Amino acid sequence: MEIDVVDISPAEVAADVLAFAVPEPVTLPAAGQELDRLVDGGIRHLIEDGELKGERGKVTLLHTRDQLKAHRVAAAGVGGDGDSDSLRTAAASIALRAGEVGGTTVAWILDENGLPPAEQVRAIVDGTALGPYDSGMWKTKDELQGRVERLVFCGPGAADAAAEARRANVIVAWTNRCRDLVNAPPNICTPSSLADFAEEIAGRFEHMTFSALDFDEISAAGMGALAAVSRGSENPARLIMLSYDAPDPTRGDLTLGLVGKAITFDSGGLSLKPADRMEEMKSDMGGGGAVLAAMGAIAELGLPVRVMAVVPSCENMPSGHSYRPGDIVTALNGKTIEVTNTDAEGRLILADALTHARRSGATHIIDLATLTGAMVIAMGDYYAGLFANDQAWAEEIRAAAETSGDHAWIWPLHETYRRFIDSSFADMKNSSEYRQGSPILAARFLQEFVGEGPWAHLDIAGTAYLERGREDYYGSAGATGYGVRLLAELARRLS
Ligand code: BES
Ligand code: ZN
Ligand code: ZN
Repeated sequence: MEIDVVDISPAEVAADVLAFAVPEPVTLPAAGQELDRLVDGGIRHLIEDGELKGERGKVTLLHTRDQLKAHRVAAAGVGGDGDSDSLRTAAASIALRAGEVGGTTVAWILDENGLPPAEQVRAIVDGTALGPYDSGMWKTKDELQGRVERLVFCGPGAADAAAEARRANVIVAWTNRCRDLVNAPPNICTPSSLADFAEEIAGRFEHMTFSALDFDEISAAGMGALAAVSRGSENPARLIMLSYDAPDPTRGDLTLGLVGKAITFDSGGLSLKPADRMEEMKSDMGGGGAVLAAMGAIAELGLPVRVMAVVPSCENMPSGHSYRPGDIVTALNGKTIEVTNTDAEGRLILADALTHARRSGATHIIDLATLTGAMVIAMGDYYAGLFANDQAWAEEIRAAAETSGDHAWIWPLHETYRRFIDSSFADMKNSSEYRQGSPILAARFLQEFVGEGPWAHLDIAGTAYLERGREDYYGSAGATGYGVRLLAELARRLS
């Protein structure tokens, strides 16, 4: 998508659709009043007839004749909240509607009484790029809806927000790449194809290096937990690593470590999952996908921050080679783990990846993982669960999350939960016989492997992949790319 910021009157902006935000209850902002004059009161007539509504996501189109350069004017309902997500949803609706009428250029007049201009353009870029995303890329029929090719901003504050709009545009493009990875079927998206994706990113940007360990190297390095999970599959594991060494990092003392769970298919292994919705477990690499795509965004933006990504990737499959309930494995940090459920595999592969990230010099770690079904039950599809061993680090991430649109809610991580993973045979076990507090136990398990220094864990099981659309700017089922915007925003705040 091309971004343009123009310093001319809205009447002069050439576009297929020229949009402005309208709240609920309907009041016409200054831009709307100006447009209304130009279209001879046509907007007021729509309001008087009750056809123009400010409901979030509602679009009212009006054809112009020769009064404006734009072909249509659109009132975009943002509801009564006035928050960024409402504007994201409005922008998504405008983009979809533009697509339906064959429009490829959308222009927005910023609202002088709304959010700060930088927040407005960010929300509009997000909604415009994320809203029309199509999960049906594997359909052979050409049903692709029109996409917005050019997004133009005008009106109060637009000129000052140009850089922000371009930044957001880079980030959403990577978010949609992440969605492609997560939506890709598990026969296509394998550990080795994820490694290829990472290698390609490293090839595209300066200061970036790629490496990957294969199964033998993983075993030889002592990563007994990752090796164990991967053993049942014909598709061999990879430990994927990317590092971005910005030449002049703003904070020389800091290396951000991004760790992402990348189980390319989670059948549960010998603790086999039920058949119902098992196909959705192709999305169990959503954390790793977000980490790799975020590395692309950070490098493309050239942020002055040192970042390292560690993405453990394998399949969790039942076979004669599979690890078993009862097995005891030794993780990279030397701790022993009794496997009590092979479906609690995410925490095992992350255990080795977290140790590896810390040993490789990460000072501040954040991991993203579709880790527990209970997180989906608890938080649904809008907030991820955030756990941390350091309150300041948790708060920094939470703030970045809120700004980015990838929301996160801080959960407790109290020492008392440790007893649930006590094992009679090893240092710990990977799951509890009780169903209580499962996301917290999983986080507490991970904490055993993070070493010294700030670490946070995001359980994105509910937010990475939608069973059904959310009726906002994520209107359809499938991958959301959760985490890419959050990690890019976090990296920006650390630079
Ligand atoms: N990948 C799943 C978690 C998951 C479930 C993600 C549903 C998205 C939607 C994870 O590996 C898993 O199976 N967790 C188990 C752990 C349990 C056996 C302790 C779970 O949450 O049921
Ligand atoms: Zn599992
Ligand atoms: Zn899993």
